[in-house]
Amino acid sequence: MVVLEGKNLTKHFGGLAAVVKVNFELRKGEILGLIGPNGAGKTTLVNMITGIYPPTEGDVFFKGKKITGLRSFKVGRLGISRTFQIVKPFPRMTVKENASLGAMFGAKGKEVTAKQAIEKAEEILEFVGLKDWMNKTADSLTVALRKRLEMAKALAMEPEVILFDEVMAGLNFKEIDMAIETIKKIRDRGITLLVIEHVMKAIKGLADRIFVLHHGQKIADGSPDEVLNDENVIKAYLGKRYKELTK
Ligand SMILES: Nc1ncnc2c1ncn2[C@@H]1O[C@H](COP(=O)(O)OP(=O)(O)OP(=O)(O)O)[C@@H](O)[C@H]1O
Ligand SMILES: [Mg+2]
Repeated sequence: MVVLEGKNLTKHFGGLAAVVKVNFELRKGEILGLIGPNGAGKTTLVNMITGIYPPTEGDVFFKGKKITGLRSFKVGRLGISRTFQIVKPFPRMTVKENASLGAMFGAKGKEVTAKQAIEKAEEILEFVGLKDWMNKTADSLTVALRKRLEMAKALAMEPEVILFDEVMAGLNFKEIDMAIETIKKIRDRGITLLVIEHVMKAIKGLADRIFVLHHGQKIADGSPDEVLNDENVIKAYLGKRYKELTK
């Protein structure tokens, strides 16, 4: 079953075509990888899906229903959450308070009491390994822990779909391995995932399918084996990363 679908998605910023006629399908229970060079349009695609701004052209469907241009909080209520590439927790609030905001704005948001939101936050923080930091302020966290908090906020929304935008950027090898394990556990909870990542080890280890953007256009999609051996993909993106890949 297709949970999330983009049809002909296009975004222009003035004269710049950031995303051009992109079609994609996210199927229930899978991890779909999205890769491509810096500036390829990956984050822009997520921003169009989650109502940060409407597409210039094209449509987004969630479980068959058109959600094109819906505002972010409505998209969250429907059951789609995302992380931000540049994490922005409320710095003076505790980790627990930050995570509980996710629960309040998520799929069950309207019915959730403050107490229930806090309980949800505690459960999720334990799940992502942030239990020991629960009562610290967000600004005291390292980059790796902030990325984990970002994942926790998205999870606390109890979504059906999460769009992860580079949750491994800036992490060391050990932290990357932990993040990979966490993402597998999230999939095991039954959540469908789009994972944007430059860390090839993670994409290879996680993705059931991959699609590739380059200058806003989809240049390949298919199984990891097909896509990572595709000559256009190697030329446009993987060239520099090939050594890392073949390790
Ligand atoms: N709000 C905006 N206004 C103007 N231009 C933008 C805006 N957001 C993105 N762009 C431009 O659109 C293009 C695609 O950017 P985007 O952030 O989607 O790339 P990306 O694939 O996520 O790159 P990265 O891997 O560096 O995160 C870039 O040329 C970027 O400068
Ligand atoms: Mg980006």
